[in-house]
Amino acid sequence: MSEATDYSRDTDSLDNCDVEAAYARWAPIYDLTFSAVFRPGRRALAAAASKADGPILDVGVGTGLELPMFEPHTQVYGVDLSEHMLRRAAQRVTREGLGHVAGLSKMDATRMAFADASFACVCAPYVLTVVPEPEAMLDELARVVRPGGEIILVNHVSRKDDPLAVLDTWLDRHVAPRLGWRPQFPWSIIGDWIDGRPEMQLVERRLLAPFGLFTITRIQRLPIVQAESREAAPQEMEYA
Ligand SMILES: C[S@@+](CC[C@H](N)C(=O)[O-])C[C@H]1O[C@@H](n2cnc3c(N)ncnc32)[C@H](O)[C@@H]1O
Repeated sequence: MSEATDYSRDTDSLDNCDVEAAYARWAPIYDLTFSAVFRPGRRALAAAASKADGPILDVGVGTGLELPMFEPHTQVYGVDLSEHMLRRAAQRVTREGLGHVAGLSKMDATRMAFADASFACVCAPYVLTVVPEPEAMLDELARVVRPGGEIILVNHVSRKDDPLAVLDTWLDRHVAPRLGWRPQFPWSIIGDWIDGRPEMQLVERRLLAPFGLFTITRIQRLPIVQAESREAAPQEMEYA
């Protein structure tokens, strides 16, 4: 059952042009503003992703603040919609000598130029609340991750007991396009998506610092044999 079916969602309030325009404005001050508050989530995501046995895709890499957090043995590709943000990520890679970063490209997270099942891990730190169609992005992440691999998300998920709920609602209604993200984001967007995909399984959902404002979600694309048996299983057994 959905946890937050009473949240309204106005998908027209954000589009890719709003997002690109917003991040062109954010790029020069992004690191100063968001380096510390998002750091615990980036660290948790990079630690989990670094266990992957193969290439990692970082979707919405932004200015690349998480790039130094992946283990040196990894092979990381970063994509982002915003050239302004990507330029800063490229400067960071050169400045910090991040040899594990194999490539940075401009791509839309909902239509990426990678072949199916290209990555052992696909991660998206603080991006799902930014894209106009989060389900389309999840579909695309699922397409490019290998069977047996993981999708790792970190983002704000609205909670009924959230002290910031009123602020979330106000921001959502009045300033979402200028901010470039959707402050109000119910868990049901992710939960319902997983429920509709027999080959996907929730591995971990955990609140993160600061103050449980952000959630790390790990979703496994099941190995093919397991996915087939989950599809065949009766509904009650599936979720028992
Ligand atoms: C809040 S920032 C997160 C950046 C970085 N991951 C971090 O942790 O600081 C969101 C990023 O997602 C990018 N983005 C938004 N929509 C996108 C899309 N459709 N495809 C690819 N990147 C997108 C934005 O340009 C921005 O760089």
